[in-house]
Amino acid sequence: MPQEIIIAGIVGSLREDSKTRLAVLAALEGAAESGAATRLVDLREYDLPFCNEDDTSSSPDVVRLREDVRTAHGLIIGTPEYHGGYSGLLKNAIDLMGFDEFEGKIVGLVGVSGGAMGASHALQGLRAIGRALHAWVIPQQAAVPDASAALAPESPTRTRHLERLRDVGVQVARFAALHNSPEAAEFLRAWEEAPSNPGAEL
Ligand SMILES: Cc1cc2nc3c(=O)[nH]c(=O)nc-3n(C[C@H](O)[C@H](O)[C@H](O)COP(=O)(O)O)c2cc1C
Repeated sequence: MPQEIIIAGIVGSLREDSKTRLAVLAALEGAAESGAATRLVDLREYDLPFCNEDDTSSSPDVVRLREDVRTAHGLIIGTPEYHGGYSGLLKNAIDLMGFDEFEGKIVGLVGVSGGAMGASHALQGLRAIGRALHAWVIPQQAAVPDASAALAPESPTRTRHLERLRDVGVQVARFAALHNSPEAAEFLRAWEEAPSNPGAEL
């Protein structure tokens, strides 16, 4: 039987009526449509200290956050655009984690903004973090400009945005399934056994 693929969606806003949460939920819906089990990692539900390199393993919520992210095969990371970047809340949560939670994971990015530019700066910054943590950040991403109006129930653009967000989740679930297949494991084994630079000595 194929392995169950788990996709976790991290919400980088604490706001009650957060559009980031809506965006992450839409992406998780796409992942579920593709057969994945989904998990919402809503940072409102974790009482996290600020990261300062001290040992945080005595914080039950840090331990729970690490576990919830580490045991997922793929991740949706959602952020609001805050002053031309991602939220400090999200950065702190990521800083409390590391390679154990992100390395080798398929990651999809979604974001929202109040202004017309969308969350492209925030997502660009998250892409760099994904690289630093050796995650596979997929090229598809979705950023919703003017999010409160664009995602309002009566908005004519709501469906289009939700479809784009959902598609990020579909892609993350598909690539996570491929990445965790026996064929991928065989490919990775062969890759690791291959000479580091064949032909260099000819
Ligand atoms: C501190 C702060 C900085 C913000 N900076 C920007 C910004 O640079 N560009 C922008 O378009 N919107 C900006 N916004 C608006 C948010 O992106 C917008 O309200 C978004 O919907 C918040 O996400 P949420 O609904 O998930 O809480 C900012 C909001 C806050 C609170």
